[in-house]
Amino acid sequence: MAQTLLKVSGLKVAYGGIQAVKGVDFEVHEGELVSLIGSNGAGKTTTMKAITGTLPPLEGQIEFMGKPTKGRGAWDLVKEGLVMVPEGRGVFTRMTITENLQIGAYVRNDKAGIAADIEKVFGIFPRLKERATQLAGTMSGGEQQMLAMGRALMARPKVLLMDEPTMGLSPIMCDKIFEVVQEVHNQGVTILLVEQNASRALQLADRGYVMESGLISMSGDAKVMLNDPKVRAAYLGE
Ligand SMILES: Nc1ncnc2c1ncn2[C@@H]1O[C@H](COP(=O)(O)OP(=O)(O)OP(=O)(O)O)[C@@H](O)[C@H]1O
Ligand SMILES: [Mg+2]
Repeated sequence: MAQTLLKVSGLKVAYGGIQAVKGVDFEVHEGELVSLIGSNGAGKTTTMKAITGTLPPLEGQIEFMGKPTKGRGAWDLVKEGLVMVPEGRGVFTRMTITENLQIGAYVRNDKAGIAADIEKVFGIFPRLKERATQLAGTMSGGEQQMLAMGRALMARPKVLLMDEPTMGLSPIMCDKIFEVVQEVHNQGVTILLVEQNASRALQLADRGYVMESGLISMSGDAKVMLNDPKVRAAYLGE
């Protein structure tokens, strides 16, 4: 069995007195693409923020590569390969595309490797290469999503967490993003994908988890879940 890269046990997260995540367990193994689906407000983003060290858990444990993340800052975790593409992209709007990509490599200091990886990102997203000197804030939503993914790749992720990468994008741009998610996964990056488009997410994934009101309500093989009448009724619009 492949190594467990990410293990979340009994995770609870609260905002003030309100618990958004109420005791969640799941795992991501090396080489997997795992989808986390569930309706608005279920606690998906909160879970991801706890994993990446940007929100402190109330209770529970998160292990990355066999070691608890507790006490390690977000920066250290990125350096070790736990990298997130945040909901809403979060690109630096007043910086150029190239500068945004360089910032993605802030945890590294191998100059030649960074330059080579920028070229690699440009290979995946030719659109970014064409616009290398354009300010990120003037790019379309889809282009900004490409940039956010490219920036995350610059940190050389072992596990890439993606929070709703296709939100608000046109069908063609969604196709492109899903294609790249698949491509990045094929290159050996382990992925935890949060998606509104449950059907597409489960088609890409090895395994899936459904989150409802702060808890995991279903989990299993993604293809089995795709054909599960309960999942289809609740999340695939049938
Ligand atoms: N900063 C915050 N302060 C207070 N409550 C918050 C905060 N962020 C999120 N919440 C609440 O926590 C719950 C879970 O939110 P979260 O953003 O994790 O959901 P989600 O599953 O990512 O939803 P979506 O699919 O809409 O992105 C929601 O009820 C939300 O209102
Ligand atoms: Mg969210």
